[in-house]
Amino acid sequence: MIHIKSIIAVWLALAVLLAAASALAGSGNTDTLKRRTGSGDPVAGKEKSQICQGCHGVDGNSTDELIPKLAGQYDEYILKQMRNYQAGTRSHELMNGMAAPLSDKDLADISAYFADQAIMKGNGSTPNEIGKKIYLKGNISEMVMTCAYCHGNTGKGLDPSTAMYPVVGGQHKAYLLKQLIDFRGDDRLNSPNVIMNRILRSLSDSELEALAEYISVQ
Ligand code: HEC
Ligand code: HEC
Repeated sequence: MIHIKSIIAVWLALAVLLAAASALAGSGNTDTLKRRTGSGDPVAGKEKSQICQGCHGVDGNSTDELIPKLAGQYDEYILKQMRNYQAGTRSHELMNGMAAPLSDKDLADISAYFADQAIMKGNGSTPNEIGKKIYLKGNISEMVMTCAYCHGNTGKGLDPSTAMYPVVGGQHKAYLLKQLIDFRGDDRLNSPNVIMNRILRSLSDSELEALAEYISVQ
C-alpha cells in the first residue's frame, strides 16, 4: 500500500514539473536560443570570474574531464548551484570554499558571464545506442522518465524560461557520469523534489555510463 502511494506521489511530482516544462517548450530552436543572462553584468563578471576561469576555462570550456563546462549554461542554473554550494546543500571540497565569499551581485555577474559564452559542444562522434534510447524514450515500466522532456533533444536545454533544467549536451563524460552516480546513490540531493535521484534509481552502472557517453558527444 505504502509502496503504491509513494509511486503515485513520485509521478504527481514529475507531472507538475513536466507540465511546467512543456508549457514553455517549443518556442524556438533550442540549439540557437540566446541564453538568458539574467540581471547580471557579463562584462563585470569576466573580471570577477578570473579565479573560476583558471579551472572552468576562460570561455567556460574546461579541459579537465571532472571540471564541468559552464559555457552557455543557464545563468539561473549556475546561480542556484552556487547558492547550494554556499548553503551546503551541494557538497564539493573545492566549490564550497569557492562559493563562500561571493555576494549576490558577484554571483549574478559571474553567472551572466558564463551564460553569455557560446554553448558547450561535444565532439559529435557516433552516439551510444543504449544511451540514446534511454535519453530519448525513457523506460516507463522502470519509471525512468525521458531525459529529453526536460533537457531538450540534444541536451541543450529547452528554453531560457525553463532554466531550472540545465544544459547537459556536450558536457564532459566523466563529470556527467559522476553526477549520475551521485544522484542515484543520494550523494547529490539538491535537485528539486530530488527528481533526478528518483529518475535514475533503477538504472545500472552500464546504463549510466551509456547515458553519459551519449550526452557528452552532443
Ligand atoms: C580549483 C578548481 C576550481 C575552481 C577555481 C572553481 N571551480 Fe567550480 N567546479 C570545480 C569542480 C571540480 C566542480 C565539480 C564539482 C562536483 O563534482 O560536484 C565544479 C563545479 C562548479 C559548478 C557546478 C556546475 C554544474 O554543472 O552543476 C559551478 C556552477 C561552478 N563550479 C562555478 C564556479 C565559479 C563561479 C567559480 C569561481 C568563483 C569556480 N567554479 C571555481 C572546480 C573549480
Ligand atoms: C522532470 C525533469 C527532468 C527529467 C525528466 C530529467 N532531468 Fe536531469 N535534471 C533536472 C533538473 C531540475 C536538474 C537540476 C538539478 C539541480 O538544480 O541541481 C537536473 C540535473 C541533471 C544533471 C546534472 C547536470 C550538471 O551540470 O550537474 C544531469 C547530468 C542530468 N540531469 C541528466 C539527466 C538524465 C540522463 C535524464 C534521463 C535519465 C534526466 N536528467 C532526466 C530535471 C530533469
